[in-house]
Amino acid sequence: MEVNKLCFEFEKYASTDELSGGDLQLMQHAVAAIKNAYAPYSQFRVGAALRLDNGKIITGNNQENVAYPSGLCAERVALFYANSNFPDAVVEAIAIAAETETFELSGPVTPCGSCRQVMSETEKRQEHKMRVLMRNGDGTVLATNSIEGLLPLMFEADGLKK
Ligand code: THU
Repeated sequence: MEVNKLCFEFEKYASTDELSGGDLQLMQHAVAAIKNAYAPYSQFRVGAALRLDNGKIITGNNQENVAYPSGLCAERVALFYANSNFPDAVVEAIAIAAETETFELSGPVTPCGSCRQVMSETEKRQEHKMRVLMRNGDGTVLATNSIEGLLPLMFEADGLKK
């Protein structure tokens, strides 16, 4: 038996204003996308924005449903739209932001496990890493250059395709 360790690198910005041009613009789109979130059940409104290599910015927001599992997270709304309309485009980066009026947003707004799985498959499909920008409740932003660090030992069953 041996013990192995995994670690990953992420950047922390004190505020959105500290982000550089492309990152800042993408985060602004994510924040703007919060407006159309449909979150009457959780009151947790999330916006996501993708930058594609064809120059397009795709946004999404969470869409809930009274039959709770029928809803979908902002990240997957955006990613599935991008993959369905621009299947050959590379998703270079994703920015995620959230707001709520009913409780304090503490800690980083990081993607849920299902969204990480979809992000990981998108990375794999496009053979290009996706930068991930996550805005926290306190306005700080975490950034990492690939989904790999957010989903260690990810499920990648290539054999399922056969
Ligand atoms: N949600 C997202 O849209 N993205 C995340 O990264 C975390 C959770 C949504 C799902 C649900 O509509 C609400 O936030 C509460 O979980």
